[in-house]
Amino acid sequence: MTNTDMSLLKKIFLGLLGTTACVYLTFLFINSDRYSKVFKRRLTTLSEVSLSTIEELQTCLNTTLSLEGLRIPNLTLYPRDLANVSKEFVTVQNGQWQPQTCVPKERLAVIVPYRNRTEQLPIFLYHMHRFLQKQKRNYQIFIIEQQDILSFNRAALFNVGFKESQRYDNFTCFIFHDVDLLPENDNLFYSCEPGTVRHFAELISNMKYERIYTECAGGVTAFHIQDFQTIDGFSNVYWGWGGEDDDLYRRVKQKGLKFEHQPDELARYTALKHAHSNENAMRFKLLNDWKRRIKHDGLSSLVYNVSETETHKLYLKIGVNLNQLKNHVHIKWKI
Ligand SMILES: *[C@@H]1O[C@H](CO)[C@@H](O)[C@H](O)[C@H]1NC(C)=O
Ligand SMILES: *[C@@H]1O[C@H](CO)[C@@H](O)[C@H](O)[C@H]1NC(C)=O
Ligand SMILES: *[C@@H]1O[C@H](CO)[C@@H](O)[C@H](O)[C@H]1NC(C)=O
Ligand SMILES: *[C@@H]1O[C@H](CO)[C@@H](O)[C@H](O)[C@H]1NC(C)=O
Ligand SMILES: *[C@@H]1O[C@H](CO)[C@@H](O)[C@H](O)[C@H]1NC(C)=O
Ligand SMILES: *[C@@H]1O[C@H](CO)[C@@H](O)[C@H](O)[C@H]1NC(C)=O
Repeated sequence: MTNTDMSLLKKIFLGLLGTTACVYLTFLFINSDRYSKVFKRRLTTLSEVSLSTIEELQTCLNTTLSLEGLRIPNLTLYPRDLANVSKEFVTVQNGQWQPQTCVPKERLAVIVPYRNRTEQLPIFLYHMHRFLQKQKRNYQIFIIEQQDILSFNRAALFNVGFKESQRYDNFTCFIFHDVDLLPENDNLFYSCEPGTVRHFAELISNMKYERIYTECAGGVTAFHIQDFQTIDGFSNVYWGWGGEDDDLYRRVKQKGLKFEHQPDELARYTALKHAHSNENAMRFKLLNDWKRRIKHDGLSSLVYNVSETETHKLYLKIGVNLNQLKNHVHIKWKI
């Protein structure tokens, strides 16, 4: 085994410990030539600033912005309880905020799937409110908590958040965001572009800030409302860790949407440490089957109940129960 092979294996191992699920696909490539291409491909083309972003910059970001650029968050300085975080953001209500000095074109819904990460929530909220306010966005943060006892279903919770958040405002831009990822560069502008899906979390601290492969769509993604409807959202059938983000990438490409990567210096994230949730042993089979499912698995087939809605100063919490059986489509194997 060559040194290159060793370093690739190391990446795979680190990836498995990581936050996002997309890395697992590397196993599929390990015995083929493809894996080396996938690993070695460096992304050279930087995303171009879109027209809507420029308009946004002109209407809002002209006013004094205090962007700091790349800065690894010093977590020891972050308040650890929600009451103390709340004191920092007097103008936030129900997780919603907008600038007073200018009018952003877009309304952002930040959708965060959640269960039992009480120590991470204050850190996430402290970071994200500061980040989005520096960018002068009009936004609201939704915490979508899975309250049933089933395995965690990140993708279905995103779908729920997409649907439920629209009761609160006419959002056009949806940021699907893990609670344990903090953007490090505030020049990474959280915005959406119709026809283009933006992948933000590309270089992650616990994966040594190395890109894994191009088809990775995990961690943080941004969709214009129409595009998320076009792909019928995420697949609902991934219970437990892994697979749903690779499935998402396929859905995006199948509908002919552009999948936009971000430049290295912008797409950097700090991952918060936590115990790894249970892997979904079925994920390879499910992923192989993605094409057959796409017509009837997604927003249109999602089954859930909202068990509670709680308004907090820094976020709006929606508690949900998912239905395992109904969110499976044509099960061919026993789960
Ligand atoms: C914002 O700045 C740009 C470039 O400096 C300028 O062209 C534009 O007119 C400004 N917009 C507003 C609303 O002030
Ligand atoms: C983080 O902040 C603490 C407290 O001010 C400081 O002692 C420490 O050196 C900082 N760490 C880094 C990496 O800047
Ligand atoms: C909250 O802030 C108060 C005073 O500002 C401080 O005494 C307390 O330790 C803080 N609580 C936590 C959990 O950080
Ligand atoms: C939440 O997580 C903690 C630590 O990871 C664990 O001890 C506890 O049992 C979990 N609670 C629930 C309700 O899952
Ligand atoms: C969305 O926009 C429509 C028309 O502009 C308005 O009537 C409606 O109240 C808005 N809905 C929300 C939830 O803000
Ligand atoms: C939602 O609640 C209804 C009525 O209580 C129940 O029949 C249904 O099974 C529930 N669905 C889920 C997904 O929990």
